[in-house]
Amino acid sequence: MKIKEIKDFISKHTSNKRYKTMFKIMKYLTPQLNERFSNANKKVTNTPRPAITMIKKRYGSVPLTGVEIGVQRGDNAQNILDELNIKKLHLIDVWDLMSFNKTQEGHSLVHRDHINLANHYGHPFKRSKKYLNINNYSYVSNRFKDNKKIKLIKGFSNVVVEQFLDNSLDFVYIDANHSYKTVLEDISIWAKKVKTNGVISGHDTHLIDVLQAVIDYSIKNGKHLIIEHPDWYFIKLQKIKDEINYKKIIDQLKMDIKKRVKDIEL
Ligand SMILES: C[S@@+](CC[C@H](N)C(=O)[O-])C[C@H]1O[C@@H](n2cnc3c(N)ncnc32)[C@H](O)[C@@H]1O
Repeated sequence: MKIKEIKDFISKHTSNKRYKTMFKIMKYLTPQLNERFSNANKKVTNTPRPAITMIKKRYGSVPLTGVEIGVQRGDNAQNILDELNIKKLHLIDVWDLMSFNKTQEGHSLVHRDHINLANHYGHPFKRSKKYLNINNYSYVSNRFKDNKKIKLIKGFSNVVVEQFLDNSLDFVYIDANHSYKTVLEDISIWAKKVKTNGVISGHDTHLIDVLQAVIDYSIKNGKHLIIEHPDWYFIKLQKIKDEINYKKIIDQLKMDIKKRVKDIEL
């Protein structure tokens, strides 16, 4: 046999084996992949998120005013409407260019500095039109057009927050930009808008940036954070306004003791 023939022989037989192995793997994987993809395509809209379930338990049928930050196509907003007795639900989103991407990176890119996503991606418009967030604004407008309880607000969360009064909301649900910095900022600015005993909550605890931000905020501000994957939440408890004035109490005691000593001496 010539060298070339030997090479061909080896290649033929090993590739045959490779194909056979690949075929076996694919045969094994296909039903599982099929199942995964069909599950992934199933809408999860009818599963109330843990934070929403908690709000429902907490308030029962009390009419609520709330905000969802990061709305996209309004799936979770629909869920909130289905689950809670909503008086007013403000839906806030930039709905700008292509701000939806299945990766964490995609979420983080939608930044208040308005990064030029088109440049970043090079060709964002090659993606499916369904995910072009710019189209989602009209989709959501149409979806909720007959619902007077819904108010759409198009803009960055840290800008539109100024339209809200402090202590005016029963709950906020944060699911917008998932970068550490923005989650931290969103919690800080929106917590002020929530009433005492109201709920501050959000989504995507599986993203490390989100998780880190909610944990850091809670530790720094002494919040009792609850994580019910994939949601997080805490209650805005009343601040003790008048801190105990120990100096005043001690001064009072000193005067009292002096007076008693004088009384004894007399
Ligand atoms: C994950 S999607 C929201 C999904 C929605 N909460 C749901 O579950 O149906 C995130 C959305 O947040 C929006 N977004 C990202 N950063 C934002 C920001 N700083 N201000 C307002 N909206 C923002 C994006 O445009 C995107 O539509």
